[in-house]
Amino acid sequence: MTPTLTTRDLDLRHLWHGNAQHLGLENRPPLEMVAADGVWIEDSEGRRYLDAMAGLWCVNVGYGRREIVDAVAAQMTRMPYYPLTQSHTPGAQLAARVAEMLPGELSRIFFTNSGSEAVETALKIARQSQRKRFPGQNRYKIIARHRGYHGFTLGAVACTGQAARKAAFEPVLPGVLHVAPPDAYRCNFCKTQPGCSLACADEFDRVIRMEGPETVAAVILEPVIGGGGVFPAPGGYLESIRATCTRHGVLMIVDEVITGFGRTGKLFGSDHAGIKPDIMTMAKGLTSGYLPLGATAVTPEVFQAFQGGDSEKFVQVSTFGGHPASCAAGLANLDILMRERLWENAASVGPYLMDRLRAIDSRWIGEIRGRGLMMGIELVADRATREPLAEPEVIARMMAIRRAGVLVGRNNDTLSGHGNILTISPPLILTEAQAGIISDAVAGALR
Ligand SMILES: Cc1ncc(COP(=O)(O)O)c(C=O)c1O
Repeated sequence: MTPTLTTRDLDLRHLWHGNAQHLGLENRPPLEMVAADGVWIEDSEGRRYLDAMAGLWCVNVGYGRREIVDAVAAQMTRMPYYPLTQSHTPGAQLAARVAEMLPGELSRIFFTNSGSEAVETALKIARQSQRKRFPGQNRYKIIARHRGYHGFTLGAVACTGQAARKAAFEPVLPGVLHVAPPDAYRCNFCKTQPGCSLACADEFDRVIRMEGPETVAAVILEPVIGGGGVFPAPGGYLESIRATCTRHGVLMIVDEVITGFGRTGKLFGSDHAGIKPDIMTMAKGLTSGYLPLGATAVTPEVFQAFQGGDSEKFVQVSTFGGHPASCAAGLANLDILMRERLWENAASVGPYLMDRLRAIDSRWIGEIRGRGLMMGIELVADRATREPLAEPEVIARMMAIRRAGVLVGRNNDTLSGHGNILTISPPLILTEAQAGIISDAVAGALR
């Protein structure tokens, strides 16, 4: 009789994990997760962890929300699937609900399956609409930032400013340029000045002028760079880029895949600056990860470019984008977010956690930064020179935090030698007591 294969056996034989070297994986197998509730996740050996990454920056309302499960089951029973080539109630209702919440004029929603697809959609919308708006010009270029992350597909990865994520696949989408991120800790512009001059925001203006505005379709940026190492936009930065875009007829795509739906202490990251994006991308917190769903929102002005003859429609169809069950999950998820006003909890427990982390006395902590419940801890080998802590050391610290029962993330595959930032992005239901568990685990591993 053949022995029954365990999940680990099957995994090691057949599963292909992203961003993982499989050679020798049997000696460092991935955690096998089996159950979850609130901020807690449990592995197959019965160990419980406080999930301080909310999965992958996404389980905003926390695990175990029965009302999302029930809404999905009801939708699946009524009608498990139909594409948005026609219409269905959860799709239309969710589009309306999201439109109500979005900043500025954003009011028209295209649903996809993921954040990467939401970004691809935004890039295509930007190019096509700019050709209509500026006949005779060829506005195809996109300006993004080093260290930013926008997804894994060839357009989104081209916008991603992390060399290690694209080197093996180049050439990726041509026409994408990158400028410096707002990284106050390692800023080249400000190191000779007393404070932040927003010179990194001015770079957008300079590059657009140098390239010729008539060649630039859009800029794309995250209000707080997430996976690249958590770099919040400083005060005045997004406002300045908004003004630059308007001046040059360039569309501003704000990628709120992580920052959307409460993570930073307001409903959207853009809300901190009061800016009005032309296009916004979303995913993650839209369903809190209960089912896959991404979305791209545009203003009436952008949408207007697609009104007219057949050649002016947006030629893109997605079999599963806007799946009725995902939209039902999104509606139930947003009910919880709004009813419990979870962004307010992020705005209060976030700073509490930040204070606790900043109180840790460790020679390895170079900088702790973030916004709401989204934080990065930059680890250094030497606080005076700011030399990044070597990756094996960073991983060892992360594992020590894990042994203390808390899961944090790390900015891997960003920039060679700079995989030194631990990331924290827990469910937005986090209590102060649970924030204490995170900071105690970090303190224990970094002291
Ligand atoms: C800002 C941002 N944009 C896009 C993406 C891509 O989303 P997905 O992994 O759902 O394709 C991510 C994923 O982490 C992200 O953080």
